[in-house]
Amino acid sequence: MAKIGILTGGGDCPGLNPVIRAVVRRSINEGFEVIGFKNGWKGLIEKDTIPLTLETVSGILPKGGTILGTSRTNPYKKENGVQKVKDNFKALGLDALIAVGGEDTLGVASKLTKDGLPNIVGVPKTIDNDLSSTDYTFGFDTALNTAMECIDKLHTTAESHHRIIVVEVMGRHAGWIAVEAGIAGGADVILIPEIPIDIEEVCAIIKKRHSRGKTFSIVVVAEGAQFKKDGFVTQEQKLDEFGHVRLGGIGEMLGVEIEKRTGYETRVSVLGHIQRGGTPTAFDRILGTRFGVKAVELVIKKTFGRMVALSGNKIVDVPLEQAVAALKTVDSEFYEIARVFFG
Ligand code: F6P
Repeated sequence: MAKIGILTGGGDCPGLNPVIRAVVRRSINEGFEVIGFKNGWKGLIEKDTIPLTLETVSGILPKGGTILGTSRTNPYKKENGVQKVKDNFKALGLDALIAVGGEDTLGVASKLTKDGLPNIVGVPKTIDNDLSSTDYTFGFDTALNTAMECIDKLHTTAESHHRIIVVEVMGRHAGWIAVEAGIAGGADVILIPEIPIDIEEVCAIIKKRHSRGKTFSIVVVAEGAQFKKDGFVTQEQKLDEFGHVRLGGIGEMLGVEIEKRTGYETRVSVLGHIQRGGTPTAFDRILGTRFGVKAVELVIKKTFGRMVALSGNKIVDVPLEQAVAALKTVDSEFYEIARVFFG
């Protein structure tokens, strides 16, 4: 009987629990035992585990977050971290590890496969949808729908008060949430990290819109968007264990500039972690379930060092190394569609 470990690392997102449930259900059908590591790589470093059974995964399908907990722990940044991971893997008698995460968690998985822990399968998650080699990550669809609903709500108040509302969304260095929620929510301007902000152009678009009788506008800005001359706006300069700064604050700066330059009353709404919470959409539940089942099938076939991925409507697997090699950012063709509706 094989023994599988599973961990969820990095920022949480809706759809993690469906993956855990699918891994456990498919494994039990195969006669495998499954244990969960608490709080991402931290659980493997500290040998902090929980048994995963039919009972522990019962009822978790619609729950947001992760029953295993998560953290942004990087074993490569901890004293003897990698050695502890390897020792605990061995001591627990594991045959395989399923690592569920974004570029950071899967980056560690990819490195570990080269550094003497080859029996790893990756599952891509993130609300940012910025992993290459998969058409979608789960979590993104739920975040997108949440952001769209917020934009809908902000529309009615912006219209009533004749205001500009700047909506700051997450997404780190990729503008997927901004561009898709902006299109779905009918934003009048969408600003993404991939294209530096030209404040003159933004104000010209808003003024043009007002000149045709509109007295309100919605501007969606991604947290990672930057003004042409300046760098990222951050809440904290301190780097986390994966070398990331904490983004946020561009919305406020943009709001001040827009009000100053256009004379229109402007308010700012930062959606923040609302986008990561709540119950997963049907799309994310199904994608997470398909990924979880496929991950166990790769373990059964002993096909390691791979990440499960969505390609068209098929679940495939790709080398982990390839999956974390480059971020998937918004292409100009997609952005041009959004631009049609500006102003
Ligand atoms: O990667 C997911 C994400 O929500 C990003 O969009 C955001 O920049 C970051 O995580 C926020 O991280 P934390 O919750 O650690 O502040």
